[in-house]
Amino acid sequence: MDYRRLGRSGLRVSEFSFGSWVTFARQVDVAPAKEILAAAYDAGVNFFDNAEGYEQGGSERVMGQAIAELGWSRDSFVVSSKVFWGGDKPTQRGLSAKHVTDACHAALKRLRVDYLDLYFCHRPDVDTPVEETVRAMHNLITQGKVLYWGTSEWSAQAITEAHAVAARWGLTPPVMEQPQYNLFVRDKVEAEYRPIYESFGLGTTIWSPLASGLLTGKYNDGVPQDARAALKGYEWLREMIEGQEGRARVEKVKGLAKLAGQAGMPLHHMALLWCLQNPRVSTVILGASRLSQLHDNLKALDRKAAMPPDLMAAIEGVVQNRPADPQRF
Ligand SMILES: NC(=O)c1ccc[n+]([C@@H]2O[C@H](COP(=O)([O-])OP(=O)(O)OC[C@H]3O[C@@H](n4cnc5c(N)ncnc54)[C@H](OP(=O)(O)O)[C@@H]3O)[C@@H](O)[C@H]2O)c1
Repeated sequence: MDYRRLGRSGLRVSEFSFGSWVTFARQVDVAPAKEILAAAYDAGVNFFDNAEGYEQGGSERVMGQAIAELGWSRDSFVVSSKVFWGGDKPTQRGLSAKHVTDACHAALKRLRVDYLDLYFCHRPDVDTPVEETVRAMHNLITQGKVLYWGTSEWSAQAITEAHAVAARWGLTPPVMEQPQYNLFVRDKVEAEYRPIYESFGLGTTIWSPLASGLLTGKYNDGVPQDARAALKGYEWLREMIEGQEGRARVEKVKGLAKLAGQAGMPLHHMALLWCLQNPRVSTVILGASRLSQLHDNLKALDRKAAMPPDLMAAIEGVVQNRPADPQRF
């Protein structure tokens, strides 16, 4: 496993990390979660991603119990939570100082840790002044409850505003952003954030590198019964896959699979390694609903040398979605 700096911070995160959205507390209980986490950790994964919104806190509960039972030394791993989608009451959601603080305390309990390494604002909150959120994050940091704070799916402008407020009042600015990034979704990482990588030393912990499994080819012939898009509550994903745009994506997936085959690797390895080719990516957060998937995905790292420029160019020829002003190279 190789490690990358999280932006300009001193924190070194593993190139592949692991997140438990959809899976823990839904598809995966504590015993298999322990096996998955142990396999990741033993392979050198040091960052484990979570959020208050994942299974109403259940995902953090499962991860917290599993890590406690595995007995990992607290200084050997990085764990995150994200605040935005708590409960239904007005004080239980968004980025007010109250909810940012309450959600942190609740995540600490569920994850069974004394501090969160990374704490993300899961989405922007237009109903809360950015200064209030920045100050709440800064206070949690000075209290030792959070080490680094960041954003998820914020615009470059909103991140810039957070930095301006932090600079004006001597508060701690955000260090990292968690955007979606994969062969189908590229604009934020490759174009929009371009001006702020250097100015703020922004790191990125990117999500859905396999587009929720689409980039394994498992949806090429429809939605399998045991796949994410068949889960109750994930009809939006099924619709995305079966709709017009989804069908166009599946055609591209088939083209990409051909390229991967010619390069001597499975499609999902190529898709994961493609994300790692971008130096602005600090870590690629893997997801897995079973241990075999994690083992398989980690094996992509053995093929890191198998992404030559001609393959990268051929991939562009299939996906045809390179942003106009790309930051990749
Ligand atoms: N900040 C945000 O807004 C945000 C949003 C989403 C995710 N995230 C983070 O990013 C993490 C990763 O996202 P993701 O889970 O969407 O990642 P992903 O890699 O795009 O999808 C993972 C899913 O694809 C399927 N899969 C993975 N490897 C496979 C393989 N080798 N063969 C067949 N199927 C395979 C599994 O689903 P099935 O087996 O169920 O089909 C697995 O749960 C999340 O856990 C979370 O921590 C953050």
